[in-house]
Amino acid sequence: MRSWQPSLDIEDFRALREQFTDFMLGYKFAIDEITTKINILREDFNNAHEYNPIEHINSRLKAPESVLEKVRRKNYAMNLASIRENVLDIAGVRVICSFISDINKIRDMLVGQEDITVLDERDYISRRKPNGYRSLHLIVSIPVFRSDRVDRIPVEIQIRTIAMDFWASLEHKIYYKYRGEVPPNLQGELAEAAEAAAALDEKMESLHRLVDHNSRPRPT
Ligand code: GTP
Ligand code: MG
Repeated sequence: MRSWQPSLDIEDFRALREQFTDFMLGYKFAIDEITTKINILREDFNNAHEYNPIEHINSRLKAPESVLEKVRRKNYAMNLASIRENVLDIAGVRVICSFISDINKIRDMLVGQEDITVLDERDYISRRKPNGYRSLHLIVSIPVFRSDRVDRIPVEIQIRTIAMDFWASLEHKIYYKYRGEVPPNLQGELAEAAEAAAALDEKMESLHRLVDHNSRPRPT
């Protein structure tokens, strides 16, 4: 594979652009596969238990500029093999659940599939981040069957509740507005909001359990 040289002629540039487009396509296919898996789990679980553990699914493919910006920022080698190995969030899928207990259900059903390999797992729910961030993060790899080869592609999967997601979206906006330098009083307000979101999650979980328990037919 050619490396990126400062003195590329137009033919070299075209060849690199084609390689990069092909490379990024693999991540789009990986998102398609993971999304299909999660949709199947949602429908199947709903059919078996008359209950839907997933509120919605989002996905995003990292923009090429953001991929290259991360490679530069983290000082990774600027070639496709290095990007594949080091930048593990090019394909991102977010699963939003209603209840905390749904998160591990989804996690276990995914991780148990034989074509999925877990490369990394971060449980920011058991151990929330100092700013209050809660979410379960998995980096998995999945085989993508191309016309001429099979590639194992990494995908970042974030699983969280509606309350966790609501908080994270706002925190993200604030973080960007202040370019990472969030004033201490706002940090405090965000920590309080994270507390309230966690309390809401626990309350909803216990109500859910109560209803779930009461709706089961009593043994005769
Ligand atoms: P990069 O930040 O992408 O280098 O990943 P990392 O190795 O630090 O992994 P981590 O699991 O901490 O974060 C991955 C992703 O989770 C981020 O890109 C965000 O989408 C999300 N995330 C992590 N921490 C926070 C946080 O404090 N607030 C918000 N809103 N999102 C977060
Ligand atoms: Mg980070």
